[in-house]
Amino acid sequence: MNGTSVTNEQQIQAIIDQLKHKPGALLPILHQLQNTFEYIPANAIALIGRALHQTSAEIHGVISFYRHFHTSKDSTHRVEICRAEACQARGARALESHAKKTLGVDYHQSTADRNITLDPVYCLGNCSCGPTIRVGEHIYGRVDTEKFDSIIRQLTTTTVHIQ
Ligand code: FES
Repeated sequence: MNGTSVTNEQQIQAIIDQLKHKPGALLPILHQLQNTFEYIPANAIALIGRALHQTSAEIHGVISFYRHFHTSKDSTHRVEICRAEACQARGARALESHAKKTLGVDYHQSTADRNITLDPVYCLGNCSCGPTIRVGEHIYGRVDTEKFDSIIRQLTTTTVHIQ
């Protein structure tokens, strides 16, 4: 769904092999993958994990933290849902399952029309007004399922390009 292919695996592995011995190798590897592919291919996660002895969750956590990294190439809109504690206490879990169901994707995936990519994020500095989401550069607070649907509807008529 996110455009990865087996053919890029050797290229990914070469980047990992070249950089894995550097201190804090994860970031240089992710930067090089982003520069090479314009996103972090999904099949890179397991390869990086194996080389650096890190879990997929740890690697996804770093990818989500840095806005520079994208997990898909061509989608127009990046929708990020805050999964940090304060937002979870305010209903982010219900929101994320609604978002996944509505968009028909899991985290790190793009909709079939490549219009929207759904990503998790960990705190957007809007904790007292959660659940919080970010769409492109815009942060929305108190996002319930109704507000989410309304924001998503707007995305079909606006052009908020991901970085
Ligand atoms: S916990 Fe969600 S914005 Fe801080």
